[in-house]
Amino acid sequence: MTLIVRDFRPDDAASVSRVRRASLPYMVTTPAAVAFGVESANPAKKYRLLIAEKDGEIIGTAHAGIAYDSSEPGQSFVTPHVHPEHRGRGAGALILRTAEEHLAAEGARTVYAWVIDEPESRAFAEKHGYRPTRPAHFQRLDLANGTLPPLPELPAGVELRTAADFEADPRPMFRADAEATSDEPSDIGAHFDDYDDWIRHTWNNPLLDRGLSSVVLVDGEVAAFTAAQSDGGTRYMSGMTGTLRAHRGRGLAKLAKADSLRRARAAGYTDAFTSNDADNGPMLAINKWFGYEICATEVRHVRTLG
Ligand SMILES: CC(C)(COP(=O)(O)OP(=O)(O)OC[C@H]1O[C@@H](n2cnc3c(N)ncnc32)[C@H](O)[C@@H]1OP(=O)(O)O)[C@@H](O)C(=O)NCCC(=O)NCCS
Repeated sequence: MTLIVRDFRPDDAASVSRVRRASLPYMVTTPAAVAFGVESANPAKKYRLLIAEKDGEIIGTAHAGIAYDSSEPGQSFVTPHVHPEHRGRGAGALILRTAEEHLAAEGARTVYAWVIDEPESRAFAEKHGYRPTRPAHFQRLDLANGTLPPLPELPAGVELRTAADFEADPRPMFRADAEATSDEPSDIGAHFDDYDDWIRHTWNNPLLDRGLSSVVLVDGEVAAFTAAQSDGGTRYMSGMTGTLRAHRGRGLAKLAKADSLRRARAAGYTDAFTSNDADNGPMLAINKWFGYEICATEVRHVRTLG
């Protein structure tokens, strides 16, 4: 058996997407999104998509980089995925070591990794020096067979739009995303203010379905939104839901998601997924109201380098 770890090449995109789907069936990904992640990475991210190849077959991947939009310097991330049929043969360890060496050389002091809450994955993380920090829940909503709550009534001054209506000038979407994301509970705090960077990797992301992403306006201004990601087939995933601070607690996130999910179902999507930090009480309450059920838990782990 020959096992090697190397960098991604554009013609690996379909295989990487297959490994990710097999390892994390509650995520939405496509070959185009995999290639886009590499092409659009900010140089400050020092991003590398590593490939584990056994006898010429791609069996594992890891994306690794510096959390350059974090308020704390020296934070980085890596998440190795090995195809379930190829585990226990050293691919995960080799790919993780390669990623950590790269991150250390780029000045990282801490590395964060998502670990699925199952004995095999947690034991792997512990063995490699990672300790658990905080859990997050993957949730699934059966759009094909479940029932959606009725669309809430629109209060006076409230209108619904989609992200597609902002194609001429996405700045209001950028401002709303930046404010909401900076309030999302996480151990890598994200504070972004670089509009061009956001256009490159968030707005232009091929997974972002602008037509299915609902936006709530209050008196003509963006007050809440839900960013829908889709694979163009049957799977829909919430990329981010946010309400501006001045408008929280008035049902606007529910309204955005209700509108988006109804339109996703009408467009033929059968499975809706989302993932939330276990401390995100309001978002978990909203998702429960829609009928989402927890389908897996992952636990963020951290390791100090050096
Ligand atoms: C999460 C967020 C989108 C909610 O927006 P919102 O417009 O205030 O949400 P809504 O008013 O539609 O619904 C909030 C629900 O959460 C409930 N809630 C509020 N605080 C809660 C808490 N601490 N624990 C449990 N439930 C809570 C409310 O009671 C309400 O449910 P109800 O209508 O059944 O009573 C908003 O707080 C936000 O932008 N946070 C920062 C970004 C973020 O974390 N986004 C989610 C990541 S995917």
